[in-house]
Amino acid sequence: MRAPKHTIFFLPVLSGALLLTPLMAIGESPSFPTERTDLSPKDKKRVVGVTRPTQNFSKAENFETMQGGSATSKAIVNGDAFSHFSANITFAEEETFKLGNALFRKLWVSSPSSTQASDGLGPLFNARACQSCHLKDGRGHPPEGTADDTSMFLRLARDARDAKEQQILARHEALNFPDVTYGKQLQELAVPGLASEGTMKIAYEDVPVTLGDGEVVSLRRPTYSVEGLKYGPLEPDVTLSPRVAPPMIGMGMIQAIHEADILAKADPDDADGDGISGKASLVRDHRTRELKLGRFGYKAENATIRDQSASAFVGDMGISNPDAPFNQGDCTSSQQACLDRPTGVQERLGATEAPDPVLELVTFYSENLAVPARRDPGDPKVLKGKELFYQSGCVSCHTPKFVTRRDAENKAHAFQLVWPYSDFLLHDMGEGLADGQRVGVADGREWRTQPLWGIGLTETVNEHTFFLHDGRARNLTEAILWHEGEAQAARDAFASLDRDDRIALIAFLESL
Ligand code: HEC
Ligand code: HEC
Repeated sequence: MRAPKHTIFFLPVLSGALLLTPLMAIGESPSFPTERTDLSPKDKKRVVGVTRPTQNFSKAENFETMQGGSATSKAIVNGDAFSHFSANITFAEEETFKLGNALFRKLWVSSPSSTQASDGLGPLFNARACQSCHLKDGRGHPPEGTADDTSMFLRLARDARDAKEQQILARHEALNFPDVTYGKQLQELAVPGLASEGTMKIAYEDVPVTLGDGEVVSLRRPTYSVEGLKYGPLEPDVTLSPRVAPPMIGMGMIQAIHEADILAKADPDDADGDGISGKASLVRDHRTRELKLGRFGYKAENATIRDQSASAFVGDMGISNPDAPFNQGDCTSSQQACLDRPTGVQERLGATEAPDPVLELVTFYSENLAVPARRDPGDPKVLKGKELFYQSGCVSCHTPKFVTRRDAENKAHAFQLVWPYSDFLLHDMGEGLADGQRVGVADGREWRTQPLWGIGLTETVNEHTFFLHDGRARNLTEAILWHEGEAQAARDAFASLDRDDRIALIAFLESL
């Protein structure tokens, strides 16, 4: 489907969806399997056994070092620790990975240009390459001093305004509604001769927190605004959701976790009364329009890595592709100068700026970045910290382990014991972390539990330790202290530990 040039970004998706799913009932709920259908009864028993939370903290568990299953990278730890391919892929797949890597790093240019296969950037964009945000395949950061801020941006969206829009959301035909002028995100960059949209501004306020043993930690509370809006005001009900690019490791394994295993932990009405609910995200597959379990992005808004990548191409870089064929990226009908810019489509190459196989290759690459091995899971301090992590209730959301589906599309991801430390569900994290922005079933206080594997190598790879969806936490302690809402009890348990125990818990996180 080719989108007409002047349509705002979400409308083509929407009209396509309505065409393809005319019989869908409002509020339709998909029938996900409640039991794993990929395993024999014998295997099922084995899986239940190995994924049961441990009660023995006297030594490392079997296979704990290999936190990404057989795909785990055992390469020497250095700044490239997140850039290795899954250790268990075939030689031919290694070649595909390398082609994908080149495209992930490729700097797109504006059209028309002499290097025609690389043009099509923008007209509005946040970065010129995937790698500019997912720095060294790791995480981005908030702007620091004069440093650039391309690895973080603001999502723009509003909730439904009337019954008709509510129905659209109830049918999962859209996740929310974009700003009528600025679209789905604030693009701080534009091709030469076109005005960019404005600049994200962050003001931090210090908030001192006293821990149980009297130590005072100062958190920084951010406030976001946009300076220099170039196309008029934002709509008054549009909210700003700050997002730092997350690390890229282990994605294929996350995709291969069976729905039944994630849904088994969902407890939207907190039936078990533990104060922790956990809600599954439901989103449509961009191509088939099927309802699927969302797992990627900070609000679990994408079901597949391919969908996340297709959206990144068009939203973050303004590069159209077969799944998101919008040559003008996130330009809206109110941005005529943007719509008038030349596109980077080369008819001889295909109908979009990134025609097949670009998206396939980048997707394959994104699916096969290996999780690094644990360094010292048997160290006594790490084991003590692990025990405290369990005792404090962190594992209620940060689920230690899963065994991936046997029928995974890529054999390298099939039937692997993996340790992501996430339940991939949405949780109310309280007012402090709230962005007030609805994304599908996630409300303005809900976030997907962030996987913790590899977190201890953040400084090695990215030379900073800014954590959480907007990088407000300057270290792991601050990240934990921001946990509120459903995580309040776990946060309080951490805050009341004495100093040595807090250090041990952090040592455990750093060993992941
Ligand atoms: C302008 C910065 C930026 C660029 C460029 C960018 N990303 Fe991202 N990426 C992000 C942010 C921010 C998120 C989290 C998005 C969300 O919450 O929805 C993300 C999330 C992802 C995720 C899901 C990660 C997870 O933990 O669930 C994948 C996969 C991904 N990006 C792939 C890509 C690919 C492939 C490209 C290039 C085509 C790309 N990204 C370009 C910023 C960027
Ligand atoms: C109610 C569910 C829940 C509980 C309980 C919980 N977390 Fe989290 N955790 C989350 C969510 C959701 C996020 C992502 C929040 C964000 O980015 O704003 C997160 C993020 C984190 C991060 C930052 C990850 C990153 O990549 O930036 C760390 C570190 C962390 N949690 C550690 C802990 C520890 C330690 C505990 C126990 C003291 C704990 N969490 C308990 C849900 C939970």
